[in-house]
Amino acid sequence: MQEESSEAPTQNPIDGSALGLMKVFARSLRLEPRFLHYFGKQNLQIVEHIIQSVKKNMPYHFSTSRPGQVLFFMLPDGFQRWYINLFLRKGFDTFIMARKVMIDAKIKSAIENEGVKQVIFLGAGYDPRAFLQAQKCKTVNFFEIDRGFTYEQKVIALQTVPAHIGFGAIDISRNENAVVFNQNMICIKCDLIKDNLIEYLRKNGFEPSLKTLIIAEGLTLYLPKKDVDALLESLHALITDQSEIIISFVGKFKTTAKREALFKKKEEQRLFSLMSEHVLYYVHARGFEVKDKFTTKLSMTLEKERWIKKYYEDPRRRQTAYYTLVKANSNFEYKSIDEVPEMQIDLVSIVNQKNTTNE
Ligand SMILES: C[S@@+](CC[C@H](N)C(=O)[O-])C[C@H]1O[C@@H](n2cnc3c(N)ncnc32)[C@H](O)[C@@H]1O
Repeated sequence: MQEESSEAPTQNPIDGSALGLMKVFARSLRLEPRFLHYFGKQNLQIVEHIIQSVKKNMPYHFSTSRPGQVLFFMLPDGFQRWYINLFLRKGFDTFIMARKVMIDAKIKSAIENEGVKQVIFLGAGYDPRAFLQAQKCKTVNFFEIDRGFTYEQKVIALQTVPAHIGFGAIDISRNENAVVFNQNMICIKCDLIKDNLIEYLRKNGFEPSLKTLIIAEGLTLYLPKKDVDALLESLHALITDQSEIIISFVGKFKTTAKREALFKKKEEQRLFSLMSEHVLYYVHARGFEVKDKFTTKLSMTLEKERWIKKYYEDPRRRQTAYYTLVKANSNFEYKSIDEVPEMQIDLVSIVNQKNTTNE
């Protein structure tokens, strides 16, 4: 099994990738009317507010350690996307948007059709979806888990949402290690390497007997292997048999020693990878089965550039994927990951219908 692991990062790291993802999200909404129409103007406004708020509070040493990146994000959106497609990662914006649409659709369906009463976002970053959905679904509790700087900045940004974005008065209360917005959106400060996730969730109102959806979007890459193992074991102990987890594993990452040294300097090492052919075995050893998967093939249905679509027709170029995990009960006895079905999600039709939960 190809897995990579190394030591845990140092104190209170600044996870720049969470901010980078929101920049991609905002850029995509500004560039593509179909995404703006789907996610809604309020979503773009709140993301732009969060980005500005975080940038304002970024420690000086962090922004000055990467002047190239700071300059890059000042260039026009279209140029940024063109450059990334050509020189860094083809279709990167589309991957991000596809996973956002997929997760949104999963949450919507879980709440509306499957009786899910709690949603947990592990490594939630700066994504505002929990905040937005918690306003619409008052009978569901949304828990966000993140650590250090990211947690603190997300909470600051949500506390200072300008009135013109239109949320009205936001009710804010505090628990130990947590801030609660409007009673049902609970941001918990928890480092998945050092802290006890189950204890932190229980202390903040998580109810183990309720059906729960857990989202670990873009997280496992940043955890050492032992902590991904421990996380899955904790989740297995925490959730009901009917609950589900959506989790991503990066199959392999192209890198250079120079790039890795830079990541290390930024205290955001990329640590864990798992090739798709090893996923069944890996999760089964921790008590889970894979119900379905979301691969590059499905993401690429949203891509508009034909040369990028063509590039990913080669299955060897499709390694990062999302998987729905359920507790092992022998319902899904797939022998290989190729037998596991793709999620039944038509991204193109979803994006073409306005999503009323994000208005
Ligand atoms: C790539 S970002 C993804 C953010 C968000 N899920 C998204 O996709 O937009 C990874 C997130 O994982 C969080 N993270 C990394 N290591 C963590 C840890 N040990 N404990 C809690 N959160 C962690 C980071 O702070 C960051 O917000």
